[in-house]
Amino acid sequence: MVRANEDYLKLPGSYLFSTVARKQREYAAAHPEAKIIRLSIGDVTQPLAPVIVEALHRAVDEMAQTETFRGYAPDLGYAFLRNTVAEHDYKARGCEISADEIFISDGAKGDCGNIQEIFAKECKVAVCDPVYPVYVDTNVMAGRAGNYDAQSGTWSEVIYMPCTAEYGFAPQLPKEVPDIIYLCFPNNPTGATITKEQLQAWVDYANQNGAVIIYDAAYEAYISEEDVPHSIYECEGARECAIEIRSFSKNAGFTGVRLGYTVIPKGLKADGTELHGLWARRHGTKYNGAPYIVQRAGEAVYTAEGQAQLKEQVAYYMKNAAYIRQGLAEAGYTVSGGVNAPYIWLQTPEGMSSWDFFDRLLEKANVVGTPGSGFGPSGEHYFRLTAFGRYEDTVEAIRRIREM
Ligand SMILES: Cc1ncc(COP(=O)(O)O)c(C=O)c1O
Repeated sequence: MVRANEDYLKLPGSYLFSTVARKQREYAAAHPEAKIIRLSIGDVTQPLAPVIVEALHRAVDEMAQTETFRGYAPDLGYAFLRNTVAEHDYKARGCEISADEIFISDGAKGDCGNIQEIFAKECKVAVCDPVYPVYVDTNVMAGRAGNYDAQSGTWSEVIYMPCTAEYGFAPQLPKEVPDIIYLCFPNNPTGATITKEQLQAWVDYANQNGAVIIYDAAYEAYISEEDVPHSIYECEGARECAIEIRSFSKNAGFTGVRLGYTVIPKGLKADGTELHGLWARRHGTKYNGAPYIVQRAGEAVYTAEGQAQLKEQVAYYMKNAAYIRQGLAEAGYTVSGGVNAPYIWLQTPEGMSSWDFFDRLLEKANVVGTPGSGFGPSGEHYFRLTAFGRYEDTVEAIRRIREM
């Protein structure tokens, strides 16, 4: 008889954001008069920039003519986009990454989740704690995480690297040497980041120990400080140990349009095997390419006009971030993040649990945020607010929180 994949059955409860959404729904049903403000999920709210809309329209018109119609896209991405990415995201920053090392996809989440497939099941994974849940859950699904301990909220075979206030929410080198290290900077959920020197230490560590770093730079566009690296390939030796994943969701508002990419340098090896070839094989077998229309929109992101329009969009969200950060600090909260990332990480007052604070915020201020404990045990007693809301809503949410 057919059986379900037991590794999937190990996953506890529902996904964090489903629980948040359910609680919000239940509250709204019981209090239909409440004007709930959502500062929870990291979804953008500003419309697509004009230059992107124009590129989409142009590409749709091309699809309407026999001469310019396109069918399946090349599964690794159109050369026009791969060349543009290589030029702007890497060459312009002094990073040695070529177009054929870039794999275009329909977003970073899929890549973050699927990349583990090219590694042996026995590989030991290390994650930051708190962490973007996709890295852990997909390793659970792949049977690499061991067993879940509900008490501690941890998996027996996963190495957790606590990111606490003591070290500015940066991970410290783990005691046990991992094979795969997931790093995400600027960070979701803490909004923290690390300096180039700190990232270089991770690259050196990975090279010394034969580990691979999976570097998620989905929030790169939000970096405002000088010594924060935009790409891991700014570090010496990163070509030998790092895979980088990027998204068009947060820099260009593509959460509903869908576009991202993964960089695997040629020559990056796992025990003598080139990973570039394995990912190309995986991509070719399981993926039929991001839509032509969307890749043209992605290309428009890099035009001078696109860059100017998107800079404004990022500034809009970062104005929210500054408002949340300052408003909460003035109200006596201990806050961090919101400088190089669109997330504010706040300590719950009076040692409240993250979920208790979630309930209090929903009931007293009708504001929805995300409980820090949902991102890992070290997130307990913390709470995440996003800067992706509309400015007026953000101002109103902070007013209500301050009056709580
Ligand atoms: C750290 C991180 N990586 C990846 C993603 C997913 O991005 P995408 O929309 O490109 O799938 C998110 C989305 O919130 C994220 O926070």
